[in-house]
Amino acid sequence: MPKAIDVAYVIYQVDDLDRMETFMHDFGLVTAQRNAGQLCLRGASTAPVIHVTRKGPDNRFLGAALQMASRADLEALARLPGSSLVEPIDDLPGGGWRVRTTTPDGVPVDGVWGQAPAEPLGLRDPNPFNAGTVKRRINASLRPQREPGLVLRLGHFVLRVSDHAASKAWFHERFGLVDSDYLCVPGDESQVFGTFVRFDCGDEPVDHHSMLITQAAETGVHHCSFEMQDIDAVFGAHDYLLQKGYRLECGVGRHLVGSQIFDYWRDPFDFRVEHYTDGDVADSRYEPVRYAVAADETTQWGMQPPRTFFD
Ligand SMILES: [Fe+2]
Repeated sequence: MPKAIDVAYVIYQVDDLDRMETFMHDFGLVTAQRNAGQLCLRGASTAPVIHVTRKGPDNRFLGAALQMASRADLEALARLPGSSLVEPIDDLPGGGWRVRTTTPDGVPVDGVWGQAPAEPLGLRDPNPFNAGTVKRRINASLRPQREPGLVLRLGHFVLRVSDHAASKAWFHERFGLVDSDYLCVPGDESQVFGTFVRFDCGDEPVDHHSMLITQAAETGVHHCSFEMQDIDAVFGAHDYLLQKGYRLECGVGRHLVGSQIFDYWRDPFDFRVEHYTDGDVADSRYEPVRYAVAADETTQWGMQPPRTFFD
């Protein structure tokens, strides 16, 4: 079975690349490559591209890419029904190779391998935190700024699907994703409608989830999410984005499943984008939990999601 080890990038189409670029710079991403038809953004990590926007007549989600563990995994993916041949990536920074696939709902999800890593950008160290009983900052002060900050990496994205079991099986067979936790109908643990999935890296801890696959009447992306260095980066960016007049959807708060400190915004084209920090990580010893809770119980503290969050 082919195996993926990370999320690579998400792809959107919009009718105004300038507006997307201005927002994304304010959101903490950096332009890696730009031409008349395409905007490629990166974060501070070595990933050469994490967010792609193509110019087109309307605004829509075009798909995503997952990074395969090896060339052999990419070739194994290519042998599965519905996959393309292995082809060079000649239209994105970092190059490499890809195999094109399409989910049961028709969403393009590529497997990629062999992208050349980019030079990491300077990211400040995490701010030491003086907890009640553990002081890590002695004779030193914190001076966080209200500023865009700098996104570290693409952490996860959420797909709404028409058939949860079929989509989960599809991702499992092609990318080796394993279940972390389940969302169930409130009060009924037997009815699973969403699964948080992570990459299978054995004993190496990975993000609790790199995707959430969730059943919904309308299919497509719900949001994509970018990791920030720490809580000061999340709140500093929050205040900066408020000052700039962008549309806050929900935040700051602490999720139940995955424990992330989150902050959701709408980009100028109404797509949800999330900053997060302090998320759970899990390895092969992790035992999945079934959460049969109401939507408003999925936030532990902070702003409750508005109704539009579930639209
Ligand atoms: Fe998220």
